[in-house]
Amino acid sequence: MEYRVLLAESDRSMLERLCQVVDDTPNFTLAAKFQNVSDALGQGAVFNPNLILLDIEQPGGMGLVDAFKKVYPAASILCMGDKWQAESASGSIKAGAKGYIIKPFSGVELQESVDAFSRLGSDGSAEILVFFSPKGKSGKTTLIANLAMSLARKSGEPVGIIDADLQFGDMAVFFNLAAQTTIVEAVRDIRFLSPASLSSYYMPVAPNVSVLCGTRTPNMIDKVAIDKLENLIAMSRGLFRYILIDVPAGFNPTSIAAAEASNTTFLVSMINGAYEIDHMKRALHIFRDWEDMENRAKVIFTRVEPCDAQARLELSQKLGYPVTEIIPNDYAIVSDAADKGKMATDIRPDSPLSRQVDRLADNIIGRKHRIRWAGV
Ligand SMILES: Nc1ncnc2c1ncn2[C@@H]1O[C@H](COP(=O)(O)OP(=O)(O)OP(=O)(O)O)[C@@H](O)[C@H]1O
Ligand SMILES: [Mg+2]
Repeated sequence: MEYRVLLAESDRSMLERLCQVVDDTPNFTLAAKFQNVSDALGQGAVFNPNLILLDIEQPGGMGLVDAFKKVYPAASILCMGDKWQAESASGSIKAGAKGYIIKPFSGVELQESVDAFSRLGSDGSAEILVFFSPKGKSGKTTLIANLAMSLARKSGEPVGIIDADLQFGDMAVFFNLAAQTTIVEAVRDIRFLSPASLSSYYMPVAPNVSVLCGTRTPNMIDKVAIDKLENLIAMSRGLFRYILIDVPAGFNPTSIAAAEASNTTFLVSMINGAYEIDHMKRALHIFRDWEDMENRAKVIFTRVEPCDAQARLELSQKLGYPVTEIIPNDYAIVSDAADKGKMATDIRPDSPLSRQVDRLADNIIGRKHRIRWAGV
């Protein structure tokens, strides 16, 4: 696609610098430049731009997005800021911009930012899905890995996995990865990164699936501060349609921060004939202060046998809360897949486990398109 760019930047030297970048980038032409926003709003339409680069760190700030949308309904707006700020970035998207870019930027970064929003389609921001478990060994890492593949395959859109199970994250093992960069480096560098440069910290594992691996050794946990993790999640929103986050079992600063940042938190527990209903009840209690709890906190039981509608109903009744999905007991398939460094949904797409994971993926995708959340 050819971009005809309108640049609105209040700092003169920055304006000149960015004009040069736009001019030097293939597929981008500078259609008009303005130092003054009211001039850009009043006079720019004759240049018929289809991309607006808008400095929002000036009087009027975020409110300008709306004004530009009215004057240039057919153009995409990319907001520009001096440094990465999660609030400005998500605020820009909410206001109707397609993305947020840090200035000064290079031609490659400009191209990547535009690619990111073209890939993500119209509403531009990811859905954050957090997988929380009251206790360890819930089957959540297995579920996340398989669900990510299924979501990517079915939606055709980019899916990211963040392994924030900081002490015992094993997503890298699941995907047989020797990660060069992990969550530790990503949060270390986050201040200097833009969404486009962050993407190189994620490792591609399948078409449209990338993983940000966990820490290499448990003592690295201290290297991941909570505010930086929040920033990492916010910045990753511009890169993927769905982001699945694996968090440490139980309530801790990491799992709480991730759940707060989520659109949906799945509470996952494995049936093993012990106290899982009890644990789940107690875990649900913690989410009671979410006003939209039933929409946002979803229960999944794994290793359910038999795994049918009746079992789901009985579990819901025992729990006194809807059970969104149940995953069958399929140890042979799960471990066979793991041995091969593959996912169960890939090597046995017709197995009961794969079917249930696919159904969950359908629900997540359908819900995004405002179709009713099946069965709840
Ligand atoms: N649906 C299933 N049926 C049978 N076994 C399963 C199923 N899902 C996972 N498992 C097995 O249960 C064990 C724990 O699974 P997994 O590592 O996914 O759980 P986890 O909650 O991430 O655990 P941890 O607390 O160690 O992070 C693994 O040995 C896995 O192979
Ligand atoms: Mg795990």
